[in-house]
Amino acid sequence: MSDVATAPNLIEASLEIAAERCEDLTPAVYRRLFAEHPQMEALFIRDTNNLVKGEMLARVIEAILDFAGERHYAATLIQCEVITHAGYDVPPDIFRLFFGTVAAELREVLGKDWTPPIDQAWRRLLEQLDFYVTHPDQALTQNTSSPAGAA
Ligand code: HEM
Repeated sequence: MSDVATAPNLIEASLEIAAERCEDLTPAVYRRLFAEHPQMEALFIRDTNNLVKGEMLARVIEAILDFAGERHYAATLIQCEVITHAGYDVPPDIFRLFFGTVAAELREVLGKDWTPPIDQAWRRLLEQLDFYVTHPDQALTQNTSSPAGAA
């Protein structure tokens, strides 16, 4: 069992609290992303009706829930997306920023409910997600015994 899988409830709980308080995180997440990293707005120039942004965030949150829990597919998905997003001119290091932006927005929505254990769970999660972003070659990570390895 992975480190993250020992505390899946904290990641899930934080996303559930956010979902109760905020119907759609999409506008706030991208507002924060573009405010902190203005160069990223140009990447979405074709997404004039915001459908891609919404779809993408939904997929990212689903993947985070899987990664923090059973880890059926998220690690592989992230590795695939790193490769496919090269076609959208999104370099791998942007993934870390994007996941960090999601966490920062959740932190704001949760306010005082963002407890130190939730903070720690997210920090660990971000680190482990980054392992797959920086190691997109599935042949090399399939049998990895790293802390970010399969659950
Ligand atoms: C695990 C992480 C990610 C997942 C699962 C994901 C998923 C997706 C999906 C499914 C699409 C196509 C949406 C559609 O056409 O309906 C997409 C497009 C795109 N994504 Fe991501 N994405 C991820 C990370 C990122 C990051 C970190 C960035 C940069 C901020 C990014 C930027 C884009 C851009 C620029 C497009 C194309 C927009 C266009 O159509 O021109 N993605 N992504």
